[in-house]
Amino acid sequence: MIFRQLFDTVSSTYSYLIASRRGGEALIIDPVLEKVDRYLQLVKELDARLVKAVDTHLHADHITGLGALRDRTHCITVMGEQSSVDVVSMRVGDRDKLQIEGITLDAIYTPGHTDDSYSFRMGDRVFTGDTLLIRGTGRTDFQNGDARAQYDSIFNKLLKLPDETLVFPAHDYKGDTVSTIGEEKAFNPRLQVKSIDQYVDLMNSLNLPNPKMMDVAVPSNMRQGLAQETVAKRGWALTVREAVELVGRPDVAFVDLRETLEREKHGSIFGSLHAPYPDLQANLRPGGMLRALASATNKRILFYCAFGERSAMAVQAAQDAGITSACHVQGGLDAWKKAEGPIVR
Ligand SMILES: [Fe+2]
Repeated sequence: MIFRQLFDTVSSTYSYLIASRRGGEALIIDPVLEKVDRYLQLVKELDARLVKAVDTHLHADHITGLGALRDRTHCITVMGEQSSVDVVSMRVGDRDKLQIEGITLDAIYTPGHTDDSYSFRMGDRVFTGDTLLIRGTGRTDFQNGDARAQYDSIFNKLLKLPDETLVFPAHDYKGDTVSTIGEEKAFNPRLQVKSIDQYVDLMNSLNLPNPKMMDVAVPSNMRQGLAQETVAKRGWALTVREAVELVGRPDVAFVDLRETLEREKHGSIFGSLHAPYPDLQANLRPGGMLRALASATNKRILFYCAFGERSAMAVQAAQDAGITSACHVQGGLDAWKKAEGPIVR
């Protein structure tokens, strides 16, 4: 496995780049905007392909690199389903699995620092975001933070992991890089409390100043959606209402770009083909499934995904590959469900 811990000195943020092998798919956790060039250089040096960029929560102390990474690599952006971010490509819930080739992360909903905080467990390690820090815990006094919820997340979820589990947080201000669950249980001063009420009192008495970047970072991090004007202006976008009318039509092929786990959890549009987004380039090449479908049947290709981001990127790629009938469903299955479009499970 390739595993890199990267550091942003300005915000003291750790980001993590993970891939199962050279030449394989890679994922990055908590990227910082100013470091995007560095990440992409490293991805290239490792001969990897960045396919997912994940934020553990909506950050207040730095601007996320999610949007920039998506725009530059067409990777999928991922956050928790509770996040108030406008649009990401994929949202995860508690116990969902987040996968890239050869690697699976378990999403653990750990609210408290914010109401959208997630930790991600991968084998012998856990990425704890700002929920559990090394000899500390994330503040709970803004962004719908809740000391009571954080106690529950830490004591009833994270500390239940095996003691030898490695702890990789999103920040450290003292220069520590990694800890273990056992070490934090024994030596983290915030965790030496006798009750939930004692923890809440401790957290409520911290009186911390707001992060310097907060007024800039929070509004910016809430707007991560892909700019889709070009796709819409060229007539490549259908509203869900327009798309619902096309279900079952023999001259239209709905193509679902989501992953199998998303289809199982949320259902899919009746009769749609499954062509996961990570395989898009292969499917669009001469001889590829989508290329063949478009040329052999003359069907109009109608992409959809969870929120309309992957499908917007796919339309552009399909058009570039010469599939001029390609268009997509704006807002994805999320908008489809809100409009009460038919779903099959
Ligand atoms: Fe944070």
